[in-house]
Amino acid sequence: MSDPLTNLIPRPSAAVPAEGGFRLDPATPLDAAPALAGVAAWLRGTLGPATGCHLPPGPGGIRLRVDDELAAEEYELVIGDTGIDLRGGSAAGVRHGAQTLRQLLPPATLRRSRLPGGPWRVPAGRIRDAPRFAWRGVMLDVARHFMPVADVLRLVDLIAFHKLNVLHLHLTDDQGWRLDVPGWPRLTSVGAWRPSTMLGARQHERYDGRPHGGHYSDDDLREIVAYAAERHITVVPEVDMPGHMQAAVAAYPELGNGWSGPVRTSWGISAHVLNPGPVALDFCRAVLDHLCDLFPGELIGIGGDECPPDEWRDNPVAQARIQEVGLAGPERLQSWFTARMAEHLARRGRRVFGWDEILAGGAPSGAVIAAWRGPGPAAHAARAGHSVVSCPDTAVYLDYRQSDDPAEPTPVGTRLTLADVHAFDPIPPGLTDAEAALVLGGQANLWTEHMESARRVDYQAFPRLCAFAEAVWGPAGRDFADFSARLPLHLERLDALGVNYRPVTGPRPWDSRPDAPGNPRTLNDRLSELTEMTADLSQAPA
Ligand code: ACM
Repeated sequence: MSDPLTNLIPRPSAAVPAEGGFRLDPATPLDAAPALAGVAAWLRGTLGPATGCHLPPGPGGIRLRVDDELAAEEYELVIGDTGIDLRGGSAAGVRHGAQTLRQLLPPATLRRSRLPGGPWRVPAGRIRDAPRFAWRGVMLDVARHFMPVADVLRLVDLIAFHKLNVLHLHLTDDQGWRLDVPGWPRLTSVGAWRPSTMLGARQHERYDGRPHGGHYSDDDLREIVAYAAERHITVVPEVDMPGHMQAAVAAYPELGNGWSGPVRTSWGISAHVLNPGPVALDFCRAVLDHLCDLFPGELIGIGGDECPPDEWRDNPVAQARIQEVGLAGPERLQSWFTARMAEHLARRGRRVFGWDEILAGGAPSGAVIAAWRGPGPAAHAARAGHSVVSCPDTAVYLDYRQSDDPAEPTPVGTRLTLADVHAFDPIPPGLTDAEAALVLGGQANLWTEHMESARRVDYQAFPRLCAFAEAVWGPAGRDFADFSARLPLHLERLDALGVNYRPVTGPRPWDSRPDAPGNPRTLNDRLSELTEMTADLSQAPA
C-alpha cells in the first residue's frame, strides 16, 4: 500500500515522509494570514463538525501563509509533531493544500457530524504539489435535467475536493431554458418546462409522461458563482446559440424560422434554430449582457455546437442576411453570427468560449475552444492559434457507459472505463511546443439526458472524475495500478461525503435502469462518425 502521505487523489507531485505526526485536538489553533481569512473560515467549517476541532484563532497549530516564491496554485505542506505549516502561492494554492490536509485525515473527518473516533492524526512529512494544467474543468448540463441549487453547490464541493477549478454550466438547450433574461419572461414561464421526457436512448421512443422543469433566479446563479469563487472555482456560463435553441423558440417563435411548437421532449439535435435577423441578434446580445452581469469570469460560453443550417435555406430573414453580408450560403451564417457575438462580448471586455464547431469558417480571434468531437479538433484549434480546452467525447464524456456490463444504467456512447479516463492526456499528439502551450487543460463533461437526479450524476461522475482529476493535475504518464491502489481509501472518503459512486465491481441494483434502455456504441463506429463530422474543419481557414 502506498505511503500515507501520497495515498491521495490526485496524487501529489512530491512527498517526503517523516517519523511521527501531528495530533489535531479541540485546542489546536489556526493561524491564518489576513489574506487567507476565507480559506480559514472554510477549513474551520469543514473540519469542525466531524472532529470537534473548531480551530480557534491563535499562534501555533496549523499555520496558513501565502508565499510569493510558489506558483499561484502551488502549495507546500509541512507536517511535524508540533505543528502544520501550509504555504501556497495564492489563496488558491493554500486551499489545494487544505484539501490535501482533509485527505490526510481519516475519512470519518469528512462527515458532517461527529462520530466516535479520534484522536485525529496527520502523518508527518513534506508535500510539494502543483497542477500540470490551469484549466481543470467539469461541465454540468442543467438544461436536459434541471439540478436544484443545493445539488449544484454539493457538486462544487466535490469538484474542489479533487482540486478541479472550472465549472462550465450548460444553461440552455432544446429541452429547457434555465435562467431569467430581463425583458424575455416567456423564456422561463414557457421555455423552462416540458410535459414529458424521453426515457433512455431515442431509438426506443419511450417517454416518462411526467412534467419536468425549473430555472435559476439571478440570486441562485449569484450564489453558485460566489460559492464556487470561495472554493477557487470559476463558473463559465454557456447559453448555446444559434442552435440547440428550441426551448427559446418555443417561448418566442419570432426568434425562429417559421416554426412554432413545444419545448423538446426527446433527445437528439433539434432543427429549430435561431434566425439570423435583427430581433434574434438583439435577443442574443441581451442574453450575453445578462451573463456578463451575473458571471464575472472573462469567458462567456456561446455554445455553437450542432447547428443545422436547414431552416435557413427557406427562411426569407436568413436569405436577406446572406445577401446583405455577401455570404456564400447558409452554411456560412453561423460563423458570421459567432463573429457578431464575439464583437459584443469584446465590448464588455469578455471572450467567447465555444464548442469546436465554431472553428468552421474561422473562429473569432481570442476565442477559447472546447474541443469535443473526438481526438482531432483540439490539435486543429491549437494549430489555428486558439487556446483550447480538451474534452474529447471518446475520453472524458462521463455520460458514456463505464463498462460493457448490461446492468450499466442507460448505456450510451462508447465504453469509457476508469482506466481510459485516467489515461487521458489533454495535449493531443503531434503538436509543437508552442501549439501545446495553447492547451489550457481538460474538461470532463456531464451531459444529463440520462441523469435526472444528483444521485445519477454521482454514479456517472464517480469515481471517473477522480481519475480525471489526476489526468489534469498530475504529470503525463501516470500509473493506473498506482491509482487503483489508492482508490479504496478514496472510495471510503466518497462514502463519508455521501457520494453514490459506481463501485469498481459494477452497478448496485438501484443504479440499474431497465426502464430506460441505452444504445451502446463501439469506439470504431464512433471514430468513423467523428471523422465525417469534423471534415468541415479541414476546410476552415487556419
Ligand atoms: C456536444 O457534445 N454537443 C458539445
